Amino acid sequence: MPHLTRRQVLAASAAAGGYAVGLGMAARLGAAAPVETKILKARTTDAVLTDAGPTKNVLTYGDAGMPPVLRMTKGKPFAAQLVNGLDEATTIHWHGLRIPNGMDGVPFLTQPFVNAGETFDYTFTPPDSGTYWYHPHCNTLTQMGHGLTGVIVVEDPGDPAFDGEVVLNLRDWRLGKDGQFIAQFLPKDAGKSGTFGTVRTANWAGEPQYDAPAGGLIRVRIAATDVTRIYKLSMDGAEATVIAIDGHPVPSRFPLDATMIGPGQRLDLVVRMPDGEGSIAALRDTRGTTPKTIANLRAAGSSLKRDVRDLGPLARNSMAKADLSNAARLPFSFSATAEHMAVDSICGSLGYTFWAINKVPWPGDTPDPTAPLAELKLGKSYILDLENLTRHAHPIHLHGMSFTVVSSSTREVQPQVTDTYLMDPNEKVQLALVADNPGDWAFHCHIIEHQKTGMSGYLRVA
Ligand code: C2O
Ligand code: CU
Repeated sequence: MPHLTRRQVLAASAAAGGYAVGLGMAARLGAAAPVETKILKARTTDAVLTDAGPTKNVLTYGDAGMPPVLRMTKGKPFAAQLVNGLDEATTIHWHGLRIPNGMDGVPFLTQPFVNAGETFDYTFTPPDSGTYWYHPHCNTLTQMGHGLTGVIVVEDPGDPAFDGEVVLNLRDWRLGKDGQFIAQFLPKDAGKSGTFGTVRTANWAGEPQYDAPAGGLIRVRIAATDVTRIYKLSMDGAEATVIAIDGHPVPSRFPLDATMIGPGQRLDLVVRMPDGEGSIAALRDTRGTTPKTIANLRAAGSSLKRDVRDLGPLARNSMAKADLSNAARLPFSFSATAEHMAVDSICGSLGYTFWAINKVPWPGDTPDPTAPLAELKLGKSYILDLENLTRHAHPIHLHGMSFTVVSSSTREVQPQVTDTYLMDPNEKVQLALVADNPGDWAFHCHIIEHQKTGMSGYLRVA
């Protein structure tokens, strides 16, 4: 990795044209340490994902293997240069990070395409700690389906100390018996719960095993970066407690026990490892008809004899609190729509329309197909009234701002802060937020086939 001087970094970000918000500030304040620019080169590679030998046409960031886990520090500037080594346009979206609109990575909405051979400089300061992730926002079914999904860890010195940490990037691959890619989706499934992968991995391995100190408290950061799969997670052989969802600490901790997360979501656990050397704690997905062990943690060494009740609270992320008594309500219905051939789409169409938000499939068949779904006033409080009118679950994601779950028609909810809410079939849910980040923010289902066949749009904050 080239280590740039601060001068080079500043020159590079000036070239990016006014996007150097975090860095510019740091420079003005005379911050001592130069920000190292992380080079993220999107490229084609081979990877061993099955016993059938290497899979070709896998996409990654970096030299080889899975896209790197990016480590950032809350409140500290971060800089990365996307180098497009693909033969088509791409961008990077920093899922869950509340950063300036120009850094959000959505072509047309927030930045130009980064064409083959071009670069783009991303610089920002993550305002929240926790587990996040990054991925392209262009031809996403193919680009993400072929590997371009990576985990972000935003560290906070105020977090309690753990005895170990394991980061798990969960995703599937659509591969044939020969280990090579097959059609990324089937239209008949795109109109239902999505087309599932044939090979399921954690950190690009079938069932990886990691050593962790026996009797220790391990932080397990899970990111569901698959384009389709919803997980129902449990831990066999150890006590696992949910401590954060989508980067933000849970209002009160609860046992993992069959917790569901959808595409785009993250879960932070504390796992109290078993005491016996060699004992296994197995993370399991029990959703659907084919339960699977995702990863194993193996107790190593003599027991540290830790008690999960001794773990202090995670550092809090500070966020404006919505004023519920004065909040305006914005209704959003999520429905199936009449199927027709989509004529045009922003950044990759699958050629079909199956889904709609507020009856309009994106890009909508309206006088102004690319108008925002709603216009929000900067600084005002809103309640997003979401209604799922379908028989399928939809993980609904908003860029740029986090919301707080207020109430649901199908379950008891905690006032969780999150950026992606997994709606049950036919659920109604209220999500509150303060519109405190100006710009055009994508708002869509994170089952990528749903997003790409109509269940997408954006909110304008001005
Ligand atoms: Cu994870 Cu619109 O993105
Ligand atoms: Cu969906």
